[in-house]
Amino acid sequence: MHFINVTVLISGGGTNLEALLTTMKEEALPVRVVQVIANKAEAYGLTRAKQHGIPCRVLSGKADALQLLEWLKDLNTDLVVLAGYLKKVPDEVLEAYQYRIINIHPSLIPAFAGPGWYGMKVHEGVWERGVKVTGATVHFVNSEMDGGPIILQESLRLDDDDDPVKIQQKVLKIEHQLLPRAVALFAAGKIKVCQGRTTITNEVDQR
Ligand code: GRF
Repeated sequence: MHFINVTVLISGGGTNLEALLTTMKEEALPVRVVQVIANKAEAYGLTRAKQHGIPCRVLSGKADALQLLEWLKDLNTDLVVLAGYLKKVPDEVLEAYQYRIINIHPSLIPAFAGPGWYGMKVHEGVWERGVKVTGATVHFVNSEMDGGPIILQESLRLDDDDDPVKIQQKVLKIEHQLLPRAVALFAAGKIKVCQGRTTITNEVDQR
């Protein structure tokens, strides 16, 4: 079975990282997280990574583009996963890893997505607008914030008494299933991209 090497980029608590690591074990996915890179040393996700014995690095400051590229290459990264990573991916990395960087976004892109839409701001926007359905999206990363081809989406109906915190909790549950599914599909070579749209090849059950 062909394993893929994954580098996970984080900025915060790392619950998506945790969900990926748990699913990898439970489903024996042909996936190896070779390193976790955070843009700040205090990201709790680094603690989670260390608990799983995964090498961690902190990338901060201006010189990060070439440093990031070097770290990705020196561990033979096949797929970069942004799991709550709040910095822009440098163009050099986007070019070197086209259609090999995926991101999890806590809304149904294109709604509540793009510059300024991240973390709790997304769920506050959803609540303020009074939408009845929200969800999560996994997409390929390109130079446009949240703009790359969509890979998977899953929706959820909101209850009238849901506030932004409850919305975040409900969406996170979806994220924790969706991201590992997208990584598994990538590892199985089942995600094809044509003219900016993806198709999932012969996946028996999308659930
Ligand atoms: C998640 O809501 C994710 O959708 C967004 O940032 C948050 C990261 O959460 N990109 P965590 O660090 O994985 O807990």
